[in-house]
Amino acid sequence: MQITPNNAGLGARVEGIDLAQPLAPEGFRTLLRALGQYGVLCFPRQDLDAPQLSAFGSRFGELEVNVANLFHAPGHPEVMILSNRRDAEGRPTGLNDAGQGWHTDMSYSAEIALANALHAKEVPMRDGRPLGSTQFRNMHAAYDDLPAEVVQRLEGRVAIHDFEKFWDVMRMRPGSIRKPLTPEQRAKKPPVPQPIFRLHPITGRRILYCNPGYAMRIKGLEEAESTALLEYLFRHQAQEKYLYSHDWTPGDLLMWDNIGTVHNAVADYGPEEPRSILRVQVMATLDYAALAA
Ligand code: OGA
Ligand code: MN
Repeated sequence: MQITPNNAGLGARVEGIDLAQPLAPEGFRTLLRALGQYGVLCFPRQDLDAPQLSAFGSRFGELEVNVANLFHAPGHPEVMILSNRRDAEGRPTGLNDAGQGWHTDMSYSAEIALANALHAKEVPMRDGRPLGSTQFRNMHAAYDDLPAEVVQRLEGRVAIHDFEKFWDVMRMRPGSIRKPLTPEQRAKKPPVPQPIFRLHPITGRRILYCNPGYAMRIKGLEEAESTALLEYLFRHQAQEKYLYSHDWTPGDLLMWDNIGTVHNAVADYGPEEPRSILRVQVMATLDYAALAA
């Protein structure tokens, strides 16, 4: 296995491994450490079906079944289908707008997510260039650069994160196929508090864990102060120097750290430019510090 970091401070390519095969303990440990260190791992030229992707993801922790769970692989509710393709009757075959806005998956859940693994089957192209890139920002670096005064003001504070925030923003977009959340869905994902700073379970370093997709307000502060501080954090983390943008190639399996990064799907392709991806979400259910040691 060769791991080649890119020069963006985030992201590495991992070659010489077939993820359709079971992962040996040593390989697992190497990948876990690389995930913490580089944040986004691209495994090019992979060919996994839904059960194989599920098996790979579940080595790292329990897989989440999405609360809305609109589209998934047959017999595999944990393998979500992201796609803008429609079937012969014109019905959507996948979620066509996943992640279009900066966010962190599962920050709205009391139990947070370690990672996502997305496996690209179809990538839209125009004029020889891939569209529908996925962008990431480095929240280890964003924390390290915070002014001491801001860290002090936010030390020990939690922000309230709400699944419905992002869902409703997406719903308001023209052509959205998302419906309002049902009371049952809402009850499954009530707003939750999350520490604004936390220790990354793999690297042991502090990170900024607060994303504009789900964070609503800072608990215990006046509304105006909460809003001003959140806006500050979102502007701070949006600096160009933290950005890495992944341009997809079909066959890529992209695994990213969902604790130490925020991400955004770029919606620059049209309905006639197919993009199809299989996805699993890995919850942070294992003792990663021990596993990476
Ligand atoms: C996700 C997500 C990004 C993409 O699956 O969590 O944000 O580019 N997707 O599809
Ligand atoms: Mn996402």
